[in-house]
Amino acid sequence: MQQITLIRPDDWHVHFRDGEALKETVPHHAQRFGRAIVMPNLKPPITSVSLAKNYRQQIVAATPKDFDFNPLMTLYLTQMTSPEDIEQAKESGIIYGVKFYPAGATTNSDAGVTDIFRLIPTLQTMAEVGLPLLIHAEVTDPAVDVFDREKIFLESVIKPLLQKVPDLTVVLEHVTTKEMADFVIDAGDQVAATVTPQHLLYTRNDIFKGGIHPHLYCLPILKREQHRERLREIVKSGHKRFFLGTDSAPHSQSAKESSCGCAGIFSAPCAIEIYAEIFELLGALDKLEGFSSCYGADFYGLPRNKTQITLIKKPWAVPESYPLDSKNRIIPLKASETLHWQLT
Ligand code: DOR
Ligand code: ZN
Repeated sequence: MQQITLIRPDDWHVHFRDGEALKETVPHHAQRFGRAIVMPNLKPPITSVSLAKNYRQQIVAATPKDFDFNPLMTLYLTQMTSPEDIEQAKESGIIYGVKFYPAGATTNSDAGVTDIFRLIPTLQTMAEVGLPLLIHAEVTDPAVDVFDREKIFLESVIKPLLQKVPDLTVVLEHVTTKEMADFVIDAGDQVAATVTPQHLLYTRNDIFKGGIHPHLYCLPILKREQHRERLREIVKSGHKRFFLGTDSAPHSQSAKESSCGCAGIFSAPCAIEIYAEIFELLGALDKLEGFSSCYGADFYGLPRNKTQITLIKKPWAVPESYPLDSKNRIIPLKASETLHWQLT
C-alpha cells in the first residue's frame, strides 16, 4: 500500500505544557489530529473550570489558523475535588474527563490523590453526570518494584474501586501490562485503555541497549517483551476499547539528559506516522483507522471527525530536535531515524 486515507484521528492523551512551549507543541497536534484530551498536570494543576477555560484559550491561541483543532480539557483530581466541582465541570461543556494521578506517581502529581477511597461521593457524581475518570494506574509505594506498579495498582485500587462505583466510566491511560490489558478486555463496556506508540514499539531492554537512553524513559516505564506482545495482539485484533493516546510529554533536552532525568516521551511531531508504521509492521493497517479515529470518539460518546488525513509511503528523517521554547530544545521519539509514512 502506498497511501492511506484515514478519518482525521484524535489523541486521547496528550501533554502540551503551557506558556511559550504551546507555540511549539500544539501545532504538531493540530496538523494531525481533530481533537485531543489535554492533561491537566501543569504547575499549578488545572483543578477548576476557570483554570481549564483559561488554559483552553491559551491552546486555541497557539493553534495555527488553518487548522480546526478542538482541545478537550480535563480536571485534575485532588483530595479536595467535590461533587459540586464535578457538576460544574460537566456543565462547563469544555471538560471531558477527570485525571486521577496518585500523589507522587509522575510529573507534577504532588497535588494528586492520596486516598481515592475517600472520594467515593465525587466519583459517584462523575458516574451520574457521565464524566470519565482517566487513571494513571501505578502505585506509589517506594517498596514496590517500578516494573510492578501497574499490576499491583490493578489489584489494590482498580478492582476494589469499580466494585464500589460500578457505573463509573474509566480510561486506563497508557496501558503497559498484559494484566491490565486483559482486565480491560474482561471488564464491561465502561472501561477502556489508551495505548502509546512507545509501549507498542519498545521493551525495557531498549532503555539500556548499549548505554542508558533517557529519551525512552517514561512512566509507566517500558515493560518486558511479553507485555508489548500482548498490547500488539490486542490492537491488531481491532479491540474497540483500546485506542490512540500518545502520552506525548515534552521535557527539554537538558531536563531529560540529566543526572535525574524527567519521565516523558515527546512523540507529537510524528505520532500518527509512527502508529502507521507499527500497524504496518503488525500486518494490520486495516485496523489503524478504528484505533486512531473511531474507537476513542465512540467511547467518549462524541461524533467521529468529518475530515480526513492522508499518509503516503515516502521516507523522511525525523529531525534531531525541535525548539521547545526560546531557550530549550526537545528530542522527539525516533529522532534522526527514518520513518516510512509521511503526512501529506
Ligand atoms: O512519562 C510521563 N510523563 N508519564 C506521565 O504520567 C506524565 C508525563 C509528563 O507529564 O511528563
Ligand atoms: Zn500522560
